Amino acid sequence: MSAPNLKIEDLRVSIEDKEIIKGLDLEINGGEIHAVMGPNGTGKSTLSAALMGHPKYEVTSGKVTFNGKDLLEMEVDERAQAGLFLAMQYPSEVSGITNADFLRSAINAKREEGEEISLMKFIRELDKKMDLLEMDNTFAHRYLNEGFSGGEKKRNEILQMMMLEPKLAILDEIDSGLDIDALKVVAKGVNDMRSPDFGCLIITHYQRLLNYITPDKVHVMMQGRIVKSGGPELAHRLEAEGYDWIKEELGIKDETVGQEA
Ligand SMILES: Nc1ncnc2c1ncn2[C@@H]1O[C@H](COP(=O)(O)OP(=O)(O)O)[C@@H](O)[C@H]1O
Ligand SMILES: [Mg+2]
Repeated sequence: MSAPNLKIEDLRVSIEDKEIIKGLDLEINGGEIHAVMGPNGTGKSTLSAALMGHPKYEVTSGKVTFNGKDLLEMEVDERAQAGLFLAMQYPSEVSGITNADFLRSAINAKREEGEEISLMKFIRELDKKMDLLEMDNTFAHRYLNEGFSGGEKKRNEILQMMMLEPKLAILDEIDSGLDIDALKVVAKGVNDMRSPDFGCLIITHYQRLLNYITPDKVHVMMQGRIVKSGGPELAHRLEAEGYDWIKEELGIKDETVGQEA
């Protein structure tokens, strides 16, 4: 185990008494990028929400440790404090708070009193990162995600990640709705974060993003479980052949998690 380390063992999560995650195991270490791929409705977003501590997602059994500490015992802000970050599939718009103000408070919330980032340093970092993400400077002063296009919201999630410097980032469908240029920019941001002190879980429906971010491991999630793991070649096979061969191989009848009443 090398820090950071996220270890999920036999996790089960329910939403309103319906079990969505059904015994999931996954371990991510520092320096590693993992991709979780899977059909719609299979529980990918449920997994990320449960890891961040969303109150609607009830963990009914299993164990999750983050750097050796029980993650499930931590409050949401403690999880962020510990270095966990989630880029949401559907980022929310917050009126009345500018992007820059939001980022600066989020950075300072992770710091001790008296250790707050100076305004000069903050602006310098923000400029640098917005440059790398090819974001126009006006985005700093606009209200958080308000009126942002789908692609702009995704870029903004990556900007948050780069500014907050988490130890482990979960990117939930960060590639959805992106054109190829935006996809490359998002990949550039993630690749810029790559280091032995950073781990990343990329949740995606398509292999496309993985052309630009080479994952160390690829996992297939179906019916609330990781059913197959491999290297980048697994993602290529899924792109070419879909998920049917895995269902056949494992004797899974139908991907019904999303559809059943
Ligand atoms: N907040 C929620 N309330 C009720 N059902 C939900 C909620 N979030 C997810 N679900 C259900 O859980 C299942 C898994 O959804 P989700 O985790 O979003 O799948 P994925 O991200 O893999 O497409 C779906 O059947 C979905 O309808
Ligand atoms: Mg999802």
